[in-house]
Amino acid sequence: MTIANLAPIPELYVSAESALKLKDKAGALPSWDLTARQACDLELLMNGGFFPLKGFNTEADYNGIVKEMRLADGTLWPIPITLDVSEAFADKVAPGQNIALRDAEGVILAILAISDKWLPNKALEAEKVYGADDLAHPAVNYLHHSAGKIYLGGAITGLQAPVHYDFRSRRDTPNELRAYFRKVGWNKVVAFQTRNPLHRAHQELTFRAAREAQANLLIHPVVGMTKPGDVDHFTRVRCYEAVIDKYPASTTTMSLLNLAMRMAGPREAVWHGIIRRNHGCTHFIVGRDHAGPGKNSAGKDFYGPYDAQALFTQYEAEIGVKMVDFKHMVYVQEKTQYYPVNEVPEGGTILDISGTELRRRLREGLDIPEWFSFPDVVTQLRKTSPARDKQGFTVFFTGLSGSGKSTIANALMVKLMEMGGRPVTLLDGDVVRKHLSSELGFSKEHRDINIKRIGYVASEITKNGGIAICAPIAPYTATRRAVREMIESYGAFIEVHVATSVEECERRDRKGLYKLAREGKIKEFTGISDPYEIPTNAELVVETEGADVDSCAHQVILKLESMGLITA
Ligand code: PPS
Repeated sequence: MTIANLAPIPELYVSAESALKLKDKAGALPSWDLTARQACDLELLMNGGFFPLKGFNTEADYNGIVKEMRLADGTLWPIPITLDVSEAFADKVAPGQNIALRDAEGVILAILAISDKWLPNKALEAEKVYGADDLAHPAVNYLHHSAGKIYLGGAITGLQAPVHYDFRSRRDTPNELRAYFRKVGWNKVVAFQTRNPLHRAHQELTFRAAREAQANLLIHPVVGMTKPGDVDHFTRVRCYEAVIDKYPASTTTMSLLNLAMRMAGPREAVWHGIIRRNHGCTHFIVGRDHAGPGKNSAGKDFYGPYDAQALFTQYEAEIGVKMVDFKHMVYVQEKTQYYPVNEVPEGGTILDISGTELRRRLREGLDIPEWFSFPDVVTQLRKTSPARDKQGFTVFFTGLSGSGKSTIANALMVKLMEMGGRPVTLLDGDVVRKHLSSELGFSKEHRDINIKRIGYVASEITKNGGIAICAPIAPYTATRRAVREMIESYGAFIEVHVATSVEECERRDRKGLYKLAREGKIKEFTGISDPYEIPTNAELVVETEGADVDSCAHQVILKLESMGLITA
């Protein structure tokens, strides 16, 4: 069923009166606390953004989506919308039962009538939906390391929308946008999806796209969850607000979309199209490498640059919105204006600043020319992107017990404190185990919890402009990667592998633990009876054999200097 672009779209909410009654009863139901991603998904399920879905995917719908991008009834749907839960919770509930879905503060938002409960084949989901079972893909990493083991499916009864305290007047449900378009008489609307700040080139290309389609323009940025490391949405929205006035009056509007992106490239583009159709749009801009996740673990792009456009074109009729090609715009110096890269006049001098170059200029406090961005946007970006040597960061030492992590970390801390400027916190393995993780042992599960706690504290320190130095063993690659992701949204993460061999650590045996481990008196001892996965992407590898502590710490200092994190 398709809904004409301006007619109201079905929502999953019940009336306010029924919601009150149901809420009363729902208090006694088993309840699931939604993860951040699930809360985003639920909001779009309830408000019609994910129409025609009526709840979290059933097993049959999920299988159809994974294998051929279709629900069991044949409707096009490219991305699984699943309620993943822990095994412990899944054991307590069964199909036929209702459960309450609560937000992070415990407010009941919806009731799920469980119809299906199953153990998904996550490797297959990764292969089919994201193109590879490769942990370098943020959604695959999430699937294997954050998502629960079991999926629950079933219809949703919406009781209330999640509450947002930020930018409330800029958030619109599909029906609110449709009503707005009706009111202002916009029959054709081009949507522009973005997770980045807008600069002049974006403004040019979006305006051109709208003109070509003879349509009005909706700037529709994602403020739910985007790619780890993106500019935070508070900054971005202030930037969008600075750009919106630059469009000719009454041609363009802006609304925020609380979507949790998956960075699934081609499939994501199709999904974005369906979501925009549901929001009353008739056209959608798809560019080069739409929703691309970056490089895979072999250093290659996950998707071809035009795969998203190709898939979108193939399904355009079913999606129900027309694709508008996104042209890369460049500034031509002599003409003092922007042109699509394939239409630059003969002999024109092209000026362009890449994303990486922009970040460098922001980091180093260098000039950002007016032809590139609007001064108001640059001001906003500068506010939240202080120069690199003023930002927080985390140095994460990893290595075997007795490798020298703590000693080097202590020396580094003293050197950084001597320099001054930022507070320095040392989260040493032993100290953390005493104060933060005293109840934990050394099983894989407990080590992972321990490392994630350290990562969380370090990410808070980094966010607030401090320096965190961590020195746990951290034997597992995936957990180190998870910590890296947690921190990189706020500042730099420098992984330092203290690469002392197990033979040397055992020879030193500073705490006498290797001897006990050899005698079997300590179980699961890293390097002896438990694994240590050697880092392959550490920023620095420090060899301690034959080197003194001071020179090891100095190597880290030099690395930090070369990254612009400290000044000489
Ligand atoms: S982990 O894997 O990162 O959670 O380990 P971590 O918290 O860094 O370990 C801290 C110290 O615990 C001592 N210890 C052991 N290490 C490894 N395996 C086993 N089974 C074990 N039991 C106790 C060890 O001294 C670690 O300290 P460091 O500073 O690394 O020598």
